[in-house]
Amino acid sequence: MPETTSAFAAAVVVTGAASGIGAAVVERLLEGDVPVIAADLAWPADAAQPSGVRRVVLDVRDPEGWASLAELAATTGALAGLVNAAGITRRARLEAATAEDFELAFAVNATGPALGIQALAPLMASGASIVNVGSAAAVTAHYAVAYAASKWALRGITKTAAMELGPRGIRVNIVHPGYIETPMTASASAAFHDINVELTPLGRTGSPGEVADVIASLLSPETSFVTGAELAIDGGLTSHGVGLPIARAIS
Ligand code: NAI
Repeated sequence: MPETTSAFAAAVVVTGAASGIGAAVVERLLEGDVPVIAADLAWPADAAQPSGVRRVVLDVRDPEGWASLAELAATTGALAGLVNAAGITRRARLEAATAEDFELAFAVNATGPALGIQALAPLMASGASIVNVGSAAAVTAHYAVAYAASKWALRGITKTAAMELGPRGIRVNIVHPGYIETPMTASASAAFHDINVELTPLGRTGSPGEVADVIASLLSPETSFVTGAELAIDGGLTSHGVGLPIARAIS
């Protein structure tokens, strides 16, 4: 097992790092001089690789891909953390969702993070931190049934990993973003955007940077006694249940 105990002495692996929330996490980590191994399905051939970042191609569904990433990470020393931000949406409702919708959503959003934890935890020392990116859809009913189910599954993986890795001093937490302005939500309907803003007490959408700030905190020793926890980053969307429309209706 690696001997490093300082949480930021080594690299953090970020999946889904080419876009949206993952890309914002990479930016935050670099601002804090944390070296990053940035993983995604593909990278633009002509894009400059910022100093401090090692870009790798990874399909999070592929155990062999994770094994190669682990081999590469091992050459850099102990890993300080892992952020499982890669994700896909499947927007079919219950009456239309196919077996393929469920298989794909689960493979990327649930099995992928589990495979990553399995492959990389052996490279982590006490003080390391893993953050999974869940969703507001992981704590509520949500029309996109396969996506919601896969994110609910990720909560179970998070809590199990926190239990299993706790004795080694490795923390595992999950964040639940609400509506965040990324390429993923750019393809959602205007109606979905508008109702989210209406039901969000802060009255707006969030930015990838606002999610990255919380993830960076969960990676850092500032949160050294936090594990197995779930944190909403949603402007209050999931905090009121049905309280907000009821309060508005009677005012
Ligand atoms: P995005 O679509 O901008 O970025 C997702 C990234 O994951 C992309 O770069 C994509 O290439 C990568 N990816 C997809 N499948 C992959 C695979 N099999 N292997 C490796 N990489 C893969 O999406 P966004 O919004 O940044 O989402 C990041 C995470 O946040 C996802 O897990 C998503 O479910 C979650 N989330 C996003 C919300 C939002 O409002 N944007 C709300 C709640 C959760």
